[in-house]
Amino acid sequence: MIYLDNSSTTPIDETVLDAMLPWLRSGFGNASSIYKLGREARVAVEDARMEFASLLNAHPAEIIFTSGGTESNNTILKSCADESGLIESILTGSTEHHAVLLPAQAMQARGLHHECIPVDANGRVVIESLAALNISRTLVSVMHANNETGVIQPLAAIRQNIPNALFHSDAVQSFGKIPVDVAALGVDFLTLSAHKIHGPKGIGVMFIRKGIDFKSHQQGGGQERNRRAGTEPVALIVGAAVAARRACNDMAERSQHMANLISLAREQIARTIPNVRYNTPLEESLPNILNVSFLDADELDGEAILQSMDMKGVAVSNGSACVSGSVQPSHVLLAMGLPPSEAKAAVRISVSKDNTLTEVQEAITILADVVRVLRG
Ligand SMILES: Cc1ncc(COP(=O)(O)O)c(C=O)c1O
Repeated sequence: MIYLDNSSTTPIDETVLDAMLPWLRSGFGNASSIYKLGREARVAVEDARMEFASLLNAHPAEIIFTSGGTESNNTILKSCADESGLIESILTGSTEHHAVLLPAQAMQARGLHHECIPVDANGRVVIESLAALNISRTLVSVMHANNETGVIQPLAAIRQNIPNALFHSDAVQSFGKIPVDVAALGVDFLTLSAHKIHGPKGIGVMFIRKGIDFKSHQQGGGQERNRRAGTEPVALIVGAAVAARRACNDMAERSQHMANLISLAREQIARTIPNVRYNTPLEESLPNILNVSFLDADELDGEAILQSMDMKGVAVSNGSACVSGSVQPSHVLLAMGLPPSEAKAAVRISVSKDNTLTEVQEAITILADVVRVLRG
């Protein structure tokens, strides 16, 4: 199989797995226990916390482990509104992941104000539109890079326009591909997930800037400074930190390799498939994602392409895998102004450090065949 759906998830690295296994076997202690087995687990958790803090330019006390991107986003949005009582409104980008949009809508149903910030044709937040929005007692949530198109948002510039708001960014897709420095980006909250960077599934990070009076909706054993109750999954935390360190250490090399693969895919599509629209801009986008629509969309849809590619042994996505199964056109592409037919006819190719030029060439050859057949 040729796996080109790495924005959905990535295979775990052997070194990550090796680092985790001792914590699933003999090192099974509870990190809150005060005897040796527990203390050793605590050291492993705190080492991982320091690792993330140093990679993000944060303080260890600002790093909270969660079960992943979805939980981090939900906790930040809901707890800022409810338990912490910090905000009265939430502004989100209109192309956010559903793990941001749906909690924001749920808060709206409970009386909070929620508004979507418009994006331009490339999917970037229209910064000028921020001036018209009411920003007091507000959480602004704009993702660092989009999971469907790879477009990077100008977070630092957005921050300059919302000096008084609380600022959250979902950096699940950008982390490990481009630098993520919480000070430079000016964010108060940040979300990460390990399984997008060859780490294990079910583990993520929530960065909460020191000094914010944040009270979490999750209550229980008081772990993670009362911000994420629940016994720490030591092996997952250790694995996440190893994956993160490797992704950041090798970022330049990995990103260059992925960018070469994506530019090869672009060139080959341009040569072999007529009538396409590139939904991923050439500038300011992640090195690993290419989203294209096929323009005679009446009969063609991304779902059909995905299924035909699957039958030929190639895994790609039609937009966000988190909403696959749904026949709705992508809300991201619609927000960028694509007509529903073009949004439905989109395919996302996302590569990782492990893909090869030959794989990409083969996959695009198959894609060209599939599109030709489906176009009749
Ligand atoms: C941008 C973005 N945010 C959040 C998530 C959810 O992360 P997790 O799978 O760790 O819950 C994803 C997963 O696809 C994502 O791409």
